Parts: sequence; structure tokens; C-alpha cells
Amino acid sequence: MNNIYLVGFMGTGKSSVGKELAKNKKWQFIDLDELIELKEKRTILEIFAKNGEPYFRRLEKRVLKEVSEDKNFVVACGGGIVLDKDNIKTMKEAGIIICLAASPEAILERTSSYLHRPLLNVNNPRKQIELLLKLRSPYYAQADKTIDTSKLSIKETVEKILKPALKKK
Ligand code: S3P
Repeated sequence: MNNIYLVGFMGTGKSSVGKELAKNKKWQFIDLDELIELKEKRTILEIFAKNGEPYFRRLEKRVLKEVSEDKNFVVACGGGIVLDKDNIKTMKEAGIIICLAASPEAILERTSSYLHRPLLNVNNPRKQIELLLKLRSPYYAQADKTIDTSKLSIKETVEKILKPALKKK
């Protein structure tokens, strides 16, 4: 398979970059969180509130498996997808993993006006962002390539993804 999986912290631009990238390659774009919401007929926020994070992670893993059976997909994944090593395996077997990164400042700015992310609905989101970034950095480091989007437009990020190599390491 040749799918492109976009991983990375909340607010790094996975969905907007993914849409543009898919358009560019004439591939289908899938937003994994949206697909989960569609299948569950409720929002991520509701899933977290009613059934908790472990339940959401199981759903996420199952839906990732399903979409990975096909090819020519650009898949924007939720920020926590990398925490499960089976998900890394699924993505590596079915394509390439690109991690989008950004500074805590950029992440805070891009996420502060949205309340649909349960993990950032806390008193001190800045602190939470820094903590989660630290905890997750070894997981994001498993990507085939990382691009810092803090100062890049969507178009520039897509160019960086497409430019040098879509080869596996
Ligand atoms: C999460 C990120 C969210 C969503 C859920 C959990 C995370 O997706 O999957 O709220 O653990 O980082 P986005 O990264 O698309 O916001």
C-alpha cells in the first residue's frame, strides 16, 4: 500500500494539509476522527465523556485498520494515534507516516478557539500542551519524516511533503 498518514499533535495542521495533499495527488482524503464520529453517530467529545479515552482508542485502532486495507488514501489521524504500537505497525505496513509538528505557541493559538478537543479542555491548556508534547515526542519520532508547520502555510507544507522523497527510510 502507498497511503500517506499524517500524524502529529493537535493543531499542527493535519486535516487542512491532508485535504490539500489529497487534492494534489488526486487521492481520497480521510479524516479519521470524522470517520469515527460518523460511524458512532456522535462527537469525539461525547465519546470521551460517555465512554472514556480507552474506549475511544479502541475505536481509533479499529477504524485505522479498516481504512488501511485500501490504497491511495491520505489519512489525517488524531493526535494520539501514535501511542499504540500496533497503530504504528498498521501505518508502516500500509504506507508512509509524516509527522506534522509545531511550537507550543502555534498549537495554543490554533487550538484555543475550538472546544471540541477533550484533552485540551483544561484550566491551563498551555501547560497541558507542553506536558503532552514532552510525553509524546518519542512516539512522534517514529514517523518517517517530520515537518515543522509553525511558520509554514498549508501549501508550503504540502510542497515539503511532496518534494524530496516519498520513499521509506
Ligand atoms: C487527540 C487528538 C484529537 C482527537 C482526540 C484525541 C489526542 O484529534 O483524536 O481528541 O490524543 O491528541 P486532532 O489531533 O485531530 O485534534
